Amino acid sequence: MFCTWYCIALIVCWIHCLDTSNGLREMDQINKRSQLHRVKRSYSPGIRSKGWLADGVKQVNQYDFTSLDCKATSVPYPNYYWKKNGQNITQQGNVDLQGSISQFNNGSSNRFSTYVTSSTLYINCVTLADAGNYTCVAEVGTSKRERKIELKVDAVANPSNATTTQCAQKDNIVDIYMETESAVENSGNDVRLFCRASGTPAPSYSWKNANNNTIIENSYKYEITQEGDLIIKSIHSSDPRFYKCNASNTVGHDEYSTHFSIL
Ligand SMILES: *[C@@H]1O[C@H](CO)[C@@H](O)[C@H](O)[C@H]1NC(C)=O
Ligand SMILES: *[C@@H]1O[C@H](CO)[C@@H](O)[C@H](O)[C@H]1NC(C)=O
Ligand SMILES: *[C@@H]1O[C@H](CO)[C@@H](O)[C@H](O)[C@H]1NC(C)=O
Ligand SMILES: *[C@@H]1O[C@H](CO)[C@@H](O)[C@H](O)[C@H]1NC(C)=O
Ligand SMILES: *[C@@H]1O[C@H](CO)[C@@H](O)[C@H](O)[C@H]1NC(C)=O
Ligand SMILES: *[C@@H]1O[C@H](CO)[C@@H](O)[C@H](O)[C@H]1NC(C)=O
Repeated sequence: MFCTWYCIALIVCWIHCLDTSNGLREMDQINKRSQLHRVKRSYSPGIRSKGWLADGVKQVNQYDFTSLDCKATSVPYPNYYWKKNGQNITQQGNVDLQGSISQFNNGSSNRFSTYVTSSTLYINCVTLADAGNYTCVAEVGTSKRERKIELKVDAVANPSNATTTQCAQKDNIVDIYMETESAVENSGNDVRLFCRASGTPAPSYSWKNANNNTIIENSYKYEITQEGDLIIKSIHSSDPRFYKCNASNTVGHDEYSTHFSIL
C-alpha cells in the first residue's frame, strides 16, 4: 500500500518536473484563472496577452539562414498568417503559412481549452530583397494580435563555397513552421497538435509517443492529418501526454516535441 502511493507520488513528481517549461507554467496560470472564469461563465475565446512577443528589429547578413518567430497563447488555437510590407506572404514562395481552425474547436462551443502555438517564418539564405517589415498575425475569431519585426540585411561581398552550396539547397530543407507547444483540453474532447513543415519535396510526417518511443498509427485514438497534425481523439487520463513529430523528405528532417494536459 505504501509503495503504491509512493510510486504514484514519484510519477506525479516526474510529470511535474517535465512540465516546468515556461509556456506551460504560463498556461497553468491562465488555466487557473480561466477555470475561475468558467465557474463564473465569463470565459471567452481569444488570443491572450501573456507570452506574446514584443515587436522587434532583427539584423542579419546576406546569405544567412534566419527565422522570425511568433507565439500565441489562445483559447482555442489560432489562425496564423504573415505579411511583408503589408502584403500577405507564403513560406518559401509555396507553403501557405496559415493555420486552419476550420470547424475544429473554433470557439463556438462552450468547452474550454488553451493552446500555445508557434508560427515561424523561415528565411533560408537571406537576400537583400528580403529586408523589410514583417508582421505575424494571429487570430481567434474576432480577437487578433500582430507582431511586427523589421528585418535589416547587411550585404556580404564574397560568400564562401559552403554558403553557396547551402544556399542552393535552401528550398529543400525541412522546417517545421507551425507547431503546438502545449495544450490543455477537457477530458473527452479531441486535441489537435500542429506540426506543419515546409520543404521540397513536400515532407511526410510521423509521430511518436515520446513516453515510450512507439510509433503512432492511425486508429480510433489517433489521426495524423495530411498537413502533419496529430489529432488525439476523446482524450482520457490514461492517454500518453508527450509526443514527438518528425517531418522528413529525401533531403533531411526536422523534429518537434510537444505535450498536452487534461483539464
Ligand atoms: C491575408 O490573409 C488573411 C487570412 O487568410 C485574409 O483574411 C486577408 O484578407 C488577406 N489579405 C489580403 C490583402 O489578401
Ligand atoms: C464553428 O464550428 C461549428 C460546428 O462545430 C460550425 O457550425 C461553425 O460554422 C464554425 N464557425 C466558424 C467561424 O468556422
Ligand atoms: C519599416 O518600418 C520602419 C519603421 O517604421 C521604416 O522606417 C521603414 O522605412 C520600413 N521599411 C519598409 C521597407 O517599409
Ligand atoms: C570554391 O569554388 C570555386 C568554383 O567552383 C573553386 O574554383 C574553388 O577551388 C573553391 N574553393 C574552395 C576553397 O573549395
Ligand atoms: C506505449 O504506450 C502506449 C500507450 O500508453 C501503449 O498502448 C503501448 O503498449 C506502449 N508500448 C510499449 C512498447 O510499451
Ligand atoms: C525522422 O525521420 C527520418 C526520415 O525517415 C529519419 O532518418 C530520422 O532518423 C527520424 N528521426 C527520429 C528521431 O525518428
